Amino acid sequence: MRTPGTAEARGVTRRFGGLTAVADVSFTAARGEIHGIIGPNGAGKTTLLNVLSGLQRPSSGSVLIGGEDVTRWPSHRLVAKARLVRTFQTVRLFASMTVRQNLMIAARATTGPAQARARVEDVLARLSLDRLAGEPAAALSYGLQRRVELARVLVADPAVVLLDEPAAGLSPQERRDLADMLREMRDAGVTVILVEHHMDLVHAVCQNCTVLDFGRVIARGTPAEVTADPAVLEAYLGGRHHRAADVEVPASTGEED
Ligand SMILES: Nc1ncnc2c1ncn2[C@@H]1O[C@H](COP(=O)(O)OP(=O)(O)OP(=O)(O)O)[C@@H](O)[C@H]1O
Ligand SMILES: [Mg+2]
Repeated sequence: MRTPGTAEARGVTRRFGGLTAVADVSFTAARGEIHGIIGPNGAGKTTLLNVLSGLQRPSSGSVLIGGEDVTRWPSHRLVAKARLVRTFQTVRLFASMTVRQNLMIAARATTGPAQARARVEDVLARLSLDRLAGEPAAALSYGLQRRVELARVLVADPAVVLLDEPAAGLSPQERRDLADMLREMRDAGVTVILVEHHMDLVHAVCQNCTVLDFGRVIARGTPAEVTADPAVLEAYLGGRHHRAADVEVPASTGEED
């Protein structure tokens, strides 16, 4: 059955030699939902996004976009036909090209030159980047480069967006601006899969979350439900992760008690 805009993982497993980075993970994000993927460092979040975006093949399991099995589709086909686009954990802009040129390249992956130009100008204005359109990407602050990455996603007119820690390194104000942009995407019917350590952002925008630990799903539910889950607290506080000191422990919203 075709279900426009949904993004679904069914029993996705990805092994690297003897290591199972993602183990039998299933979840469904409805059209216009922001679905959080959280978990400690090394939990398998980026690997899951790599499988969903066609960058890595799953060892087993399948990926469905809009109800269609896209498991074997390469990334470029997912962009062009399923309108699934992603960002990476680190900024990946063409540093010496201008903001406008970076956006134009992304827009041209999905449409002809005239419509691409119109989309780019529209998104530049919507994200208050028009003033900076002629600057080389490298001249922008880190926070603005992250904003350009979001703009680059939007000019592809996406149906499904995968974001890998978009708030990393942003100030609290930049995180609030990001939350506003994500809500606008959601309200426009875009499905967003959000990998994020900043729980303030997850609480602010996500309807549902899937929590991973050592590749497995250990909890699912609303942000409030999963952050109150003993298994999730244990995963973050249990001291089994060698980079545990870097991890932001999920905080409650402070409203429960
Ligand atoms: N290409 C690869 N080859 C071998 N092991 C890999 C590869 N990619 C990831 N891994 C391992 O898979 C596990 C999951 O890594 P992944 O990057 O998906 O975690 P993550 O949840 O995104 O972590 P972080 O929060 O630090 O970004 C880790 O143990 C990692 O070392
Ligand atoms: Mg990662």
